[in-house]
Amino acid sequence: MSISRIFVVFVPVIFQIAGVAAAGESPALGGARITQAMVADGDLSTAEMRREGRRVFTTPFNVLDGLGDGPLPTGRPTLQANGMFLRVNGLDSQTCLECHTILSSATIPARFAVGGAGGVSTNAMAGPTEIDVDDSDDNGFAAFNGRFINPPFLFGAGGVELLAKEMTDDLQALRADAEQGPGQVVSLITKGIDFGTIVFEDGDFDTSAVEGVAADLVVRPFGRKGEFATVRAFDVGAMQFHLGMQPTEVVGDDVDEDGDGVANEILAGELSVLHVFGTTLERPRQIRMNAEARSGATTFAALGCADCHVPELLTRSRRLGVSFPEIETDPSANVFASLDLSHAPSKFRRVPGGGLRVPLFADLKRHDMGAALAESTGGALDAHFTTARLWGVADSAPYLHDGRATTLTEAILLHGGEAEAARVGFDGLSEPEKDAVLEFLRTLRTPRTVRGR
Ligand code: HEC
Ligand code: HEC
Repeated sequence: MSISRIFVVFVPVIFQIAGVAAAGESPALGGARITQAMVADGDLSTAEMRREGRRVFTTPFNVLDGLGDGPLPTGRPTLQANGMFLRVNGLDSQTCLECHTILSSATIPARFAVGGAGGVSTNAMAGPTEIDVDDSDDNGFAAFNGRFINPPFLFGAGGVELLAKEMTDDLQALRADAEQGPGQVVSLITKGIDFGTIVFEDGDFDTSAVEGVAADLVVRPFGRKGEFATVRAFDVGAMQFHLGMQPTEVVGDDVDEDGDGVANEILAGELSVLHVFGTTLERPRQIRMNAEARSGATTFAALGCADCHVPELLTRSRRLGVSFPEIETDPSANVFASLDLSHAPSKFRRVPGGGLRVPLFADLKRHDMGAALAESTGGALDAHFTTARLWGVADSAPYLHDGRATTLTEAILLHGGEAEAARVGFDGLSEPEKDAVLEFLRTLRTPRTVRGR
């Protein structure tokens, strides 16, 4: 059924907004609201779900949609108490599109596409209560007790989510094996990536030797610190943090949890189509390597870069199941749509006999990157980051979690911790050898174009 024929589903929305007269104005999302029933019943084709998801991703929400929070104490602090933006701690935008726009920052002017990366002006500022902007403590920099995070692109995210779900399935099965054999040390290896070991003893799991993944053995590839298992899980938080849009799956139906006069701000069906859009974007590509790039690729492996930045991981399935509600430890529960990622637009290459090649240049594992890159929240994982996926790296400057590196060389030389040996190795290369590594990295490009519809 086409979306124009489904048309308006009755969703009660209250239109009295903190003294704003609503006459003559309407919510920006407007039109048909997408319910989970419509999505689950198969009323929308994959193409229609993508189109609707793109609409949710690009709509600049207004107060009638429920943008922003209500006044304190329900809402968050905002500038001039106008109830809308502060920029710090979220309430920083009207639409996802404000930050996810850059297809390539390697051309001048940059090229843009929905779902792209963002420059430093679009960094999220999460958690700070104090920023020493005038360096009153005289330590030479503006000390900051929160996070400063640069937006990555979403291209290829479907392949990443599929890999992570299959890895989670494997790790959960290994965990069950451990439970069956108390006292036995079980190696946690999936797709060739080693996540340490687990033992079941005295009626409990000993997870002290689990590495690079949370103790529940759910692979969470999204967020630079590896906090979100799926694009949907990320999107639910993004809606609240950036836009003050409350998903009904978090706050409940007909509940105005942020006290801004609007309930039912984002429906489960709307997050479902957003999930479909976010996981079916085009994937990054590699251009043909010349002799110098091939030699750089060899050096990249020899230095140990490829131990973390694993060039390619293979999926068993070609289809990504997207679920609602999601159960992190059981990715195959509650699947409402199954997306063939070998098809356009994502077009992952097929492996003969099933599965797909995901050329991500990462291991979906978290690593200690050393003191120089550490964040300053005081958390145990301040220095830990999920390996950056290097696909598309030629087009996605600035680099590192906060965008502090404007060149590839700076990004590499800021590696420390578990990557210290690789950094020292790179630093010790001759100039032509370094050039060759950079030439290789410059073959890793974002999609040539991204579908407009
Ligand atoms: C103010 C800028 C900003 C806005 C607006 C924004 N994002 Fe992001 N986005 C970011 C940043 C910064 C990150 C990296 C966050 C992290 O690593 O924890 C990110 C990461 C993501 C990721 C995870 C990507 C990955 O590979 O880890 C997804 C998915 C995403 N955003 C979706 C959305 C959606 C959907 C919206 C709208 C509801 C949105 N974003 C709005 C800045 C933004
Ligand atoms: C121990 C694992 C590990 C090794 C080894 C490693 N890296 Fe990384 N790399 C990471 C992590 C984690 C990040 C993200 C750090 C951050 O966001 O602050 C990263 C980020 C990068 C980036 C920036 C990408 C971006 O989009 O921001 C580049 C470029 C890079 N690595 C290249 C290399 C090269 C070249 C080598 C070998 C000399 C190497 N890495 C070795 C883990 C590693």
